[in-house]
Amino acid sequence: MKYKIITHGCQMNEHDSERMAYLLETMGYTPTSEPAEADIILMNTCLVRENAELKVFGQVGALKKWKEARPGRILALCGCMMQTGAAKDTILRSYPQVNLIFGTQNIGRLPQLVEEVHRTGERVVDITKFEDEAPFYERTDSSFAYVNIMTGCNNFCSYCIVPYARGREESRPAEKVLAEVHALAGRGYREVMLLGQNVNSYADGTLDFPELLDQVADVPGIERLRFMSSHPKDLSDRLIQVMAAHENIERHFHLPLQSGSDKVLREMNRHYTRDHYLDLVDRLRKAMPDIGLSTDIIVGFPGETEEDHAQTLDLCRRVEFNTAFTFIYSPRPGTRAAKRDDQVDEKTKSRRFQELLDVLYPIFLKKNREAIGSIVDVLFDSVSKNDATKLSGRDSQGRLLHVPGGASYIGKMEKVRITDANSFALFGERVKEV
Ligand code: 5AD
Ligand code: SF4
Repeated sequence: MKYKIITHGCQMNEHDSERMAYLLETMGYTPTSEPAEADIILMNTCLVRENAELKVFGQVGALKKWKEARPGRILALCGCMMQTGAAKDTILRSYPQVNLIFGTQNIGRLPQLVEEVHRTGERVVDITKFEDEAPFYERTDSSFAYVNIMTGCNNFCSYCIVPYARGREESRPAEKVLAEVHALAGRGYREVMLLGQNVNSYADGTLDFPELLDQVADVPGIERLRFMSSHPKDLSDRLIQVMAAHENIERHFHLPLQSGSDKVLREMNRHYTRDHYLDLVDRLRKAMPDIGLSTDIIVGFPGETEEDHAQTLDLCRRVEFNTAFTFIYSPRPGTRAAKRDDQVDEKTKSRRFQELLDVLYPIFLKKNREAIGSIVDVLFDSVSKNDATKLSGRDSQGRLLHVPGGASYIGKMEKVRITDANSFALFGERVKEV
C-alpha cells in the first residue's frame, strides 16, 4: 500500500505532514511520488490566501478520475481549510471523490480514521479536538526536525483568517518540548526548529519563550536552533539576550513587518509602529552584528494609499532585509479587513507588488554578494533539490547554501567558502581543514 501527501502552506503544515507520513508508515504504507501508484492521497490544505484555496479545489477536482479508477482508494483532506465552515461545506457538497476529512487537532487519530473509511466504505468527517501528542517521525534523509511548541493565535490581525482556523493559543508543556528535543538529539538530529504561530507569547505556566529557548539551546547534540514565527509587538530584550548568549541559536530573525505605514499597521491591528520596528532591528543588530533579518510584507491592504506604500518601500530600504516573503493582500471571508469597502483594485495591487520586488531583490542580491569570499559554518541537511551532486544546508544566519558533496555529509557541520550568490541562495565549496 502506498501513500502520497501534498502539502500547502507554512512550516506548521509541513511538520503536520511529516507526522502523518510517520503514522501512515507505522500502518504499513510506503511513500510514492506517483499519484497513479497511491492507495491514499492526503492533501494538507492552507487558507491563508485565496490562491492557496483555489489550488486545493483545482487539485481535488483533478483527482476525480484517480478516485473513480479505483473506488477503494482514499482521498483525504486535512489542514487549516478544513477547520472553517465554508470550504469544507463546498467539498462535502460538490466533491464526492473526497472520502476523508479531518482537522489540524486530530492528526493523531489518522490510523483510526483510515480504518473507519475502509471498514464502513462511507465518507468520514472528523474535525473534533483530540488530545494529540506529536508522534515521533523518522526522516532518514535529513538531520533537521520541527518541534511544535504552541498552536493557535490570539492576535486577530484584521487581514488574517488563521485565528479562526487554528483557534486560540495553547502552549505545549515545556517538559514535553524538552523531552522531544532530547529524544531527537539522541536519534541524531542536529538542527531543530521550534514552531508556533506566535512563539513570543509562549507560556506554559512554568516557562516563557526566552526561558524555553535557553533550555532547548542547552540540550547536548543540538548544534543549531531556529524558531518561527515572532510578532514584533512582544519581542523582548530577554529574548535577544538569550539568543546572543547561545552560539547554536541561528543568527537570523524572522520578524514579520506587514507594512511600513503606521496608519496601515494600526488598521491591521498589529500593535506596533514603524519606529518601534526600526528600534527592534537596531537592538537585534547591536546585540548580534552578524544577524540576518527576514520578514513578511503585504501590499494592497484596504485603504492603503500611495503614501502608505511609499512608507513600506522606505522601511525596506532602511532595514535592508536579507530576504522576505511578499504577498498581495487577499480578502479572507469573515475577517474585519475583508468587510471594508475601500479595497485596493487588482491593478494597483500588482503594480505595488512589482515595485516592492524591485526594491527588495537588489537588496537581497547585494547582501548575498557581500558574503562572497567569507567562510561560514554550514550544517548540511539534505541533497539539493535541483542538483543531485550538491548538498543543501544553512549557515548560522539561516542562509541557504548549495555545495558540491555526497550524502555522507548530511547532519555534519562543515566550513564552507562562499564563491557565488544570487538573490535567493549562496553557492560555495567545502574548505578542507589544515
Ligand atoms: N492576504 C495576504 N497575505 C496574508 N498573510 C496573512 N493573511 C494574508 C492575507 N489575507 C501573510 C502575512 C503573514 C503570512 C504568513 O501570510 O504576511 O505573515
Ligand atoms: Fe499555515 Fe496559516 Fe496556512 Fe494554516 S492558514 S497552513 S497556519 S499559513
